[in-house]
Amino acid sequence: MATIYTVCNQKGGVSKTTTTINFAAGAAMEGKRVLVVDMDSQGNATSGLGFSKKRAQTVMNLLQNEASEVEYEVSDVICKYRTDIISLDLIPANKILVSANALLASLGENKELVLKNVLDCVDNDYDIIVIDTPPALDMLTINALGAADFIIIPVQPTKYGTDGLADLTKLVLNAQKTYNPGLKFGGIVYTIDTATQIETRNIKDDVEQKYGNDIHIFEHSIPRLADIANAPSYGVSIFDLAPSSKAAWAYTKLVREVLA
Ligand SMILES: Nc1ncnc2c1ncn2[C@@H]1O[C@H](COP(=O)(O)OP(=O)(O)OP(=O)(O)O)[C@@H](O)[C@H]1O
Ligand SMILES: [Mg+2]
Repeated sequence: MATIYTVCNQKGGVSKTTTTINFAAGAAMEGKRVLVVDMDSQGNATSGLGFSKKRAQTVMNLLQNEASEVEYEVSDVICKYRTDIISLDLIPANKILVSANALLASLGENKELVLKNVLDCVDNDYDIIVIDTPPALDMLTINALGAADFIIIPVQPTKYGTDGLADLTKLVLNAQKTYNPGLKFGGIVYTIDTATQIETRNIKDDVEQKYGNDIHIFEHSIPRLADIANAPSYGVSIFDLAPSSKAAWAYTKLVREVLA
């Protein structure tokens, strides 16, 4: 049985996709069998792992087929990311996924659990599944929460970076109450972190005060580093681009903390 982590924050550009890719790659480095699921029509996790967004078969096919109860092989859709040091699988996405919101919303009972039903088919093939979500509290995000054991919340510790945490918390509490009682807060991870600045420390204190009682805050954060921003241009994880870098080490520490 795989443990499923959904990386989620409706705030845009807070490093959800970057966290998804490098957390997944870091878990693969720790010897885990890993699947990444791209649930964002921007397809950034897909292109960030070096795959074309022009692929015909994407997560959309799986959601459509699940919705209409047609048999469909997840293996037809899976992309295999293989480098000298990392092996992981990806269910890709592209802009066609925009129409999934209407499709999912039109379904009746269990419309929050369509992705969960897809992933149930491959649950035994992986130790860890990491789901990237769009910058919206939409049906795709709701399905990603419906499938998850844990939610990981990337937060950029800037003035506007914590906007929306209250709404996200409400959505998670509602998920726990209604469609996924097993969902747990994994924790908040600070991303694109400029830890030495006094403003950053003040914002972290504020987050701790408001959310620290309910949500774990990971000790290891991910600093703002050029290597991390550059990796998607090469379609690789940080472990492939710069294996001995400060950036790779930051993700290794985070992965070990989360998996512990
Ligand atoms: N630790 C970091 N250091 C430097 N740049 C980073 C870091 N993390 C992410 N970035 C850069 O910040 C930008 C936003 O990151 P990313 O795309 O992962 O955010 P996102 O939350 O997935 O965005 P969206 O809401 O659009 O899906 C990207 O250009 C990315 O390369
Ligand atoms: Mg993204």
